[in-house]
Amino acid sequence: MGIILPDAYDLIKLDSVDSTNLLAQKYIEEGRVEGPLVIVADEQTHGRGRYDRQWVSTKGNLYCSIVLKVNRPIVQLSQLSFVVALAVAEAIGEEQKVSVKWPNDILVDGKKVAGILVQSFNIAKNRADIVIGIGCNIISYPEKTDFPATSLKKEKMAVSRDALVEKIVTALEKHYSIWLSGFVGIKQLWLTKCAHLDKEIVVKGKNYQQKGIFRGISEIGELLLECDDGNKIENITIGDVFFED
Ligand code: BTN
Repeated sequence: MGIILPDAYDLIKLDSVDSTNLLAQKYIEEGRVEGPLVIVADEQTHGRGRYDRQWVSTKGNLYCSIVLKVNRPIVQLSQLSFVVALAVAEAIGEEQKVSVKWPNDILVDGKKVAGILVQSFNIAKNRADIVIGIGCNIISYPEKTDFPATSLKKEKMAVSRDALVEKIVTALEKHYSIWLSGFVGIKQLWLTKCAHLDKEIVVKGKNYQQKGIFRGISEIGELLLECDDGNKIENITIGDVFFED
C-alpha cells in the first residue's frame, strides 16, 4: 500500500541512509525543498539523537524526518518540540499508557519509545526551515540506556511503520494548526500528557545535576524546576530528565 500523505507533501522512501535528518539538511542546503517533505528510511547507518548521541537504527523501527517551512519568529521555534511530541503521542494511541517527557521524548508505561530531534536551518527574522527527526521503537529497543526504553511491540501496541508515519503527519497537521494560534493551547495539552508533573525529578547536564519538583514549562518551553524547598524556580534549557522513585 505504501505511505499516503496529504497532497502538499513530498515523500522520499529509502531502504538505507546515513541519517534522515542529514539527508533533509542536504536537500535544504541544495535548495530542493519546496513544500512539506517527509523522508523515511528502513534503517540508518548514522542515526543521531540529541547531543549528537548515537540513535541505534536497525530495521523494523520508524526513522523519519519531516521538513517544514515555518513562518514564525526564531524565539518560538523551540515550542515546536512540544507540538511534535504531542503529535507522536497521539499517533501512537492508547492515551492512558502514553506520556511525554521534557523536552521531547514519548513514553509508554514510563519507558522511552520515541525521540525527536528538531533542527533549524536558514533562520531569518520570521522564518526558518525546520527538520523534525522522529525515531520510534516499533519492534526493538536498545537495552543499555540511561533512561529505560521499550518498543511498541513489547507493549503490545505494534503498528505498521507506514501507518504510523501517516498517523504522525495527520496528528502533526492538527497540532501545528493549534500552535499557529498560539503556544497556550499546546502548552495546556502537553501538561495534561506529561509524566511526573509536580513530582520529584533530577535534571542531568554534562557537568551538573539538579534535583527538584517539576512545575511545568515556560512560554518558550524551558523546564520549570522548583528547588530549595520552594524558594526558587529554575528555568532549565538543557539536560536530561530522570524520575525519582
Ligand atoms: C533523541 O531522543 O535523542 C532524538 C532521537 C531522534 C532520532 C531520529 S531517527 C530519524 C532522525 N534521523 C536521525 O539521525 N535522528 C532522527
